[in-house]
Formats: sequence, structure tokens, C-alpha cells
Amino acid sequence: MVNQPYGGKLICRELTGKKREEAIRDAEKLPSLSVNSWVLSDLELIGIGGFSPLTGFMGRSDYEYVIERTRLADGTIWSIPITLPVTEEQAKNLNIGEQIALRGTDGIIYGTITMEEKYAYDKKKEAVNIYGTNDAAHPGVKKVYEKGNIYLGGPVTLLRRPDHNPFAAYYMDPAETRQMFADLDWKTIVGFQTRNPVHRAHEHIQKTALEAVDGLLLNPLVGETKSDDIPADVRMESYEVILKNYYVTNRVRLVIYPAAMRYAGPKEAILHAIVRKNYGCTHFIVGRDHAGVGDYYGTYDAQELIGQYEEELGIQIFKFEHAFYCKSCENMASAKTCPHGEENHVHLSGTKVREMLRNGKRPPKEFSRPEVADVLIKGMKKK
Ligand code: ADX
Repeated sequence: MVNQPYGGKLICRELTGKKREEAIRDAEKLPSLSVNSWVLSDLELIGIGGFSPLTGFMGRSDYEYVIERTRLADGTIWSIPITLPVTEEQAKNLNIGEQIALRGTDGIIYGTITMEEKYAYDKKKEAVNIYGTNDAAHPGVKKVYEKGNIYLGGPVTLLRRPDHNPFAAYYMDPAETRQMFADLDWKTIVGFQTRNPVHRAHEHIQKTALEAVDGLLLNPLVGETKSDDIPADVRMESYEVILKNYYVTNRVRLVIYPAAMRYAGPKEAILHAIVRKNYGCTHFIVGRDHAGVGDYYGTYDAQELIGQYEEELGIQIFKFEHAFYCKSCENMASAKTCPHGEENHVHLSGTKVREMLRNGKRPPKEFSRPEVADVLIKGMKKK
């Protein structure tokens, strides 16, 4: 059976049909706030139930519980604050109890919040407790420092979903993925988070997991990522070619995850697992340095943290050792399965790979499928 939503019920904070039209008309008369694509993606994920059981942007007590205890105020495990930041200037003009229209930078109203709270917060504490560092060079921490100083809390209504072009064909909401899994008669589904092209190590851990379950949800994050990550449009093309050439069509589905990347390592792994449970996954992969960046986190910190909460989260975590190609094994392997020395292992850093691709050079086929490498080279040339 498809997994239960987190908290037992899939949240829907979206209006449709006539009610939606009316609400959009009414929202035009409300005070409005311009929000960035990060906030919009959070609004959407709350609205469609990806962040169930959240029904809005966090108020102070949920926020403080999350920061201090990795739980919502009611005790539910939650690891990353989902908040609506505004400047002090903006906050001054907005009143508690008021409904506020949330506009994208394109001027379109995507939803509303009923503002129940506005509160100041401690950025340094948020940085240290969530990202494990207050270093402004960390891309997630940098975002915290750039945000407005005040958070608005309260329930939201989603009136329009952001446009997912050019990936709209790969967009599904949690209700739809759950139905799809049921239709496919998949009873066990492993979710795979990624912000990278699928390289051999990714393919290896996905397929190893797939041996134990009915299906794989390849669920790449396509929201905001840092500027030196490979852009989502190039990645999507690389997923299409690898699926076509190396996967069994009936055992895998490609669906986008329209969220922003936090780079919060262990804490983000928990959020990633919760969201995939809401999409219906029964299993979730956490490999080496999940959602990591630079050397802020230990290789297995994310596995260690999520391991403590696995039972409460209600999704089974497949934890994978660092995988690589071994020339002596002539196979993908890990420290668990390969008896040979380091000199036999094909290791390439992300920086090195990007440099090769920029110079039009394919990384070795032990690292990346040639079809994938070609898409990436073409993509890097265009950018
Ligand atoms: S992430 O930021 O989305 O986690 P990435 O796309 O690199 O980054 O990783 C996707 C998933 O694959 C994560 O669970 C990560 O831990 C895992 N992973 C990536 N590379 C390896 C590897 N060489 N060996 C084992 N697991 C890996």
C-alpha cells in the first residue's frame, strides 16, 4: 500500500473552480506582498500537501520548536523552518488578523495568508541550529542572512500554482503520485532526491534499492539551487536520456520536486523524507553527504540523524555507503563490498567533473554514462 501521508492526512490548502475565481477577485482588493520564488515554492508545497501536516507558514511556537527540538509545537518531527520573511518596513504596514495577497515578482497573486503572527527571530541561531554553522559562505546560511528580519505566520490558501514550464509534463502533486502508484499497483516505492545529474553512483544506489521494492520515484529538486549547480533544464534532459537507455520503463517514474534547495545536510534529509512520504513513498534513499555542500557535514551525518527518527517518520530509510566504480571488481561498489585499495577506485570531485564538461570532455564511463555526459556538455556550452 502507498504510504500514509505524514500526520495521517494529506493537507489541501488549494481552492479550485468557482471558489478560486471568487477568491482571486477578492484577493485583488487585499493588501499585498511581493514574494520571491523560494517563498512561492513553499506556498505551493503547503497548498498541495507536500509539506503535510503544515497548513501555513510557521508561527513563533512551531518555529522555535523546530529550531530547538527538531519538532513542531505538537511534537511532530519537523526539521526545517518553513517561514515567510518580510522586512521591518513591510511588517509595519501589515496587521495581525488581516488577509494578505501573496504576489510573485511577476505581479500575479498566487495565494493568501491570514496573518496570525509577526515575530522577530535570531538569524545566527537559525543558521547554527539548522545548517550547523554561522558561516555566511554556506549557501543556505547566506540566504538566512539576506532574508527580512520578521517572519509572518498563519494559514495559507493557494490560488494559483507557479508555472512549471519547461518541466510541466513532469509535474504531479502528491494526490496524483499516490493515485499513480496505486494504478501501477506499486506497494513499495523508493523516493530519490537529487540536485545533480544521475551519475553511475546514483544509478547504482537507485537500482540496488529497486531490487527490494516495486518502483522508483526519481524526484529531482528543480527549485532554486546555488549558481554553480547544474541547472534544472540541463539535468531534466540528462534524466530523460538515462531513463530511456538504462532503466526499465515500468519500474520508474520521473516527477519534479518544485522546492528550493537549502543545503542543510542532515536536517534537510529529514524534510526530504517527509515530503516523499507525502508523495506516497514507503522508502527513501539517504546516501553519502545527503543535501551537503563543501565540507560542512560529515559523510554519514545525515544517515545518523535521520536514523534516530526513522520510526516516528514512518518511512523506511535506505542508507547507502559512498559508492564508486572499482576497476578490479569491474563493478560499482562501496567499502562494504569492495576489498581493493583506493587506487582501484574511480573518484571525481564535482568541481573536476564540471571543469571536464565545460571543456567538452566526457568524464570516464565508469563515472557517468556517455549519453548523460553528452547532454551535460551540450548544456554547459549553451550556458
Ligand atoms: S543532494 O543534495 O540532492 O543530496 P545529490 O544529487 O548528489 O545531492 O545526491 C542525491 C542522493 O544520492 C543523496 O541521497 C546522496 O546522499 C546520494 N549520493 C550521491 N552520490 C553518492 C555516492 N557516490 N555514493 C552514495 N550515495 C551518493
